[in-house]
Amino acid sequence: MPNSATVGIEAMAVHVPKYYLPLESLASANGIDPIKFTVGLGGRAIAIPHPNEDAVTMAVEASSALLKRYNVDRSRIGLLIVGSETGVDAAKPIAAYVHGFIGLHSMCRTFDTKHACYSATAALTLAREWCAGSGRGRKALVVATDIAQYDRGSPGEPTQGAGAVAMLVGDAAAAFVFDDFPEAFYTRHVMDFWRPNYRNTALVDGPASIKSYLEALRTTYASYEVQSGVPFNGYKHLLFHVPFPKMAFKAFKTLYEREASRRNGDGMPFPLDESFERCTAPALWANRELGNLYSGSLYLSLAGLLDRSGATVEGARVGLFSYGSGCCGEFFSGTVGACAAVWRGRTGLTEGLARRTALDHQGYLAFRETAATLAREGSFNAVLPGVEQTGAMAFLGIKNHQRVYGLVSAEHETAFIHTPPCEPSRTAPTPTA
Ligand code: HMG
Repeated sequence: MPNSATVGIEAMAVHVPKYYLPLESLASANGIDPIKFTVGLGGRAIAIPHPNEDAVTMAVEASSALLKRYNVDRSRIGLLIVGSETGVDAAKPIAAYVHGFIGLHSMCRTFDTKHACYSATAALTLAREWCAGSGRGRKALVVATDIAQYDRGSPGEPTQGAGAVAMLVGDAAAAFVFDDFPEAFYTRHVMDFWRPNYRNTALVDGPASIKSYLEALRTTYASYEVQSGVPFNGYKHLLFHVPFPKMAFKAFKTLYEREASRRNGDGMPFPLDESFERCTAPALWANRELGNLYSGSLYLSLAGLLDRSGATVEGARVGLFSYGSGCCGEFFSGTVGACAAVWRGRTGLTEGLARRTALDHQGYLAFRETAATLAREGSFNAVLPGVEQTGAMAFLGIKNHQRVYGLVSAEHETAFIHTPPCEPSRTAPTPTA
């Protein structure tokens, strides 16, 4: 019989874009009180993708780092799913590029999932079921990769961000084992946030999106509570989708107040702010630096928690709420494995943040403009912005309606064109005994 009770996330790696814009710079350029962004929205900075970064390169960087850092045997990977709402093609999935560029075996199922920020959770659910069923003994690679971009000067602009989170799912010594409780999800057709195919920036009804997010949270949490029997204080940590850090506070407050009203004056062990500091804030440090990763935001929080907490979270139950506009929400939980201590500093977040460079507002605008130019047919060779990330995967433009990718070489400072993609792994995926 398949055993889903041991399936979990065995490894995680985060790709942190090299550039960022401090929110104070954005506020002063937009003539807004910086406190609105840093306290009102709770962020410190937003990651800005270099024009040579796209959803593909970020997914490749995160996946390659995961394979290398955790010494993963590629031949064991039989499923690759990319969750994203930053698709580069209406037909060809990001997963196909990633599969080729990281050299997985051809006997591997690959596809993308899309439902705004929910996409990676959909991917994880599928991966988890596959690992517990027909894929037993093999591994699934799930990658969340996105660039969150809104119009200049719009209320959404300070909630932009970018990055990718790669997660290896399997049934061996997982860092985070999914709890095997019945599922709790919620769908409603709502126009709270969307991005038509002809735009590279999202459209949003901010207040409606917050209302819809909280409604999905209330509904899924209540359903999960009944089905799982886990009470509010059964979670050491509660993590949420983080479009901006203050939203995680709004979400936590919603559950805290619900619990307080159910206790009929019996009181809560800690006041709201202190509970939040204990329960959710320890996971938010990276979200405050990177902004909204869309599909990866929730998993950036999980990576942040595991990366910094080490052994202190071993055995802790963590509740997670995923929300994708449009909308779909899901509440689920898991338990941090016994190997939590080895997770300290392992996701790449600390190094990624340490090597970042701050952009000024002019630099940020220049990146946006160049990225838009590179996204057009014929851009390859016509415009080649300074590719600087040596050793990194780079998007170089479009030629003959095909995207051109390269690896930046240390000696030549130019790109080595990486087509065709690297040879697939020659060993077929093998289940363990
Ligand atoms: P806004 O209209 O600019 O901001 O939009 P506001 O006026 O609502 O102010 C924001 C907060 O700052 C408020 O705090 C103000 O009081 C405070 P709150 O009342 O909420 O606690 N504030 C100040 N604080 C200190 N000093 C000041 C000051 N001024 C104001 N001087 C909004 C904010 C989030 C709506 C906007 O940024 C937006 O539209 N963002 C994009 C949409 C979004 O993130 N929605 C979240 C839920 S939907 C979701 O999560 C899905 C998503 O990730 C997409 C997907 O699924 O793919 C977005």
